[in-house]
Amino acid sequence: MLGDLEVSRGYQQNAAYWERVVRQRLDKFQTEVTDVALLDLIGDCTGASVLDAGCGEGYFARDLIARGAAHVAGVDTCAELIIAAREHPESGGHRADYHHADVADMPLGDASVDVVVANRLPHGIADPAKRFEEFQRVLRPAGRLIVLSMHPCFYAARGDREGIGFASTIDDYFGVRTVQQRFDVAGLTSPAASFQQFYSLEEHIGMITAAGFAITSLREPRPSAEQRRSDTFWATNFTRPLFMLLECTTMSAE
Ligand SMILES: C[S@@+](CC[C@H](N)C(=O)[O-])C[C@H]1O[C@@H](n2cnc3c(N)ncnc32)[C@H](O)[C@@H]1O
Repeated sequence: MLGDLEVSRGYQQNAAYWERVVRQRLDKFQTEVTDVALLDLIGDCTGASVLDAGCGEGYFARDLIARGAAHVAGVDTCAELIIAAREHPESGGHRADYHHADVADMPLGDASVDVVVANRLPHGIADPAKRFEEFQRVLRPAGRLIVLSMHPCFYAARGDREGIGFASTIDDYFGVRTVQQRFDVAGLTSPAASFQQFYSLEEHIGMITAAGFAITSLREPRPSAEQRRSDTFWATNFTRPLFMLLECTTMSAE
């Protein structure tokens, strides 16, 4: 049975690969689709205190600082990636802190951030709802949680998408769906497999609302018509919805 330890180990073994892919901007899904959608939904972050949950090597934290965020706390279970984030020449100085910790148990104060961003953070396994309670704890009243995840209804292993295997299919939709595969970005294959566990849309949303959030926006990031026209990559690589982006707001008692 897949556990949180296997998920973390996968990222540890892939840390150098991941750092290269992100820093060389090799992943078009990230640079041309999901980052654009995330930044649009986050909007003006001038002066905001932000948590980057599952920050990896810190590129998004650095971007938010460059866009005027007052402070970004990055949290990640992969020690190698946290070191890479801290050692980056534009790590953010006193405006950033990178913590080696689990998002379900963070060394951050209550009501200390305005926005939590979970950018492709894989779901938790042993206690998947716990992180949303933790996000609720660290957010100030009327704070926002922005979650970019693989699409709970349509995302499947590459093999399934290409019709060459069945690691996990929609037939398992209400069961435990695990996608296990090596990353394959711009012709570079990751040294180790990554594991992801999927929950149905009902379960996914239910964990968030049970923690006291209201869903205030749901988007499905995808290449625009213009991107499809100008780059044939998308016709073969974006044939179904792959991502879901949620904006969730803390329900303040006031
Ligand atoms: C797909 S990567 C995304 C990294 C970064 N947000 C980005 O978009 O480049 C997922 C990250 O989540 C981290 N992660 C996985 N489970 C975690 C957990 N329970 N707590 C904190 N970080 C976690 C992994 O170590 C990895 O760095």
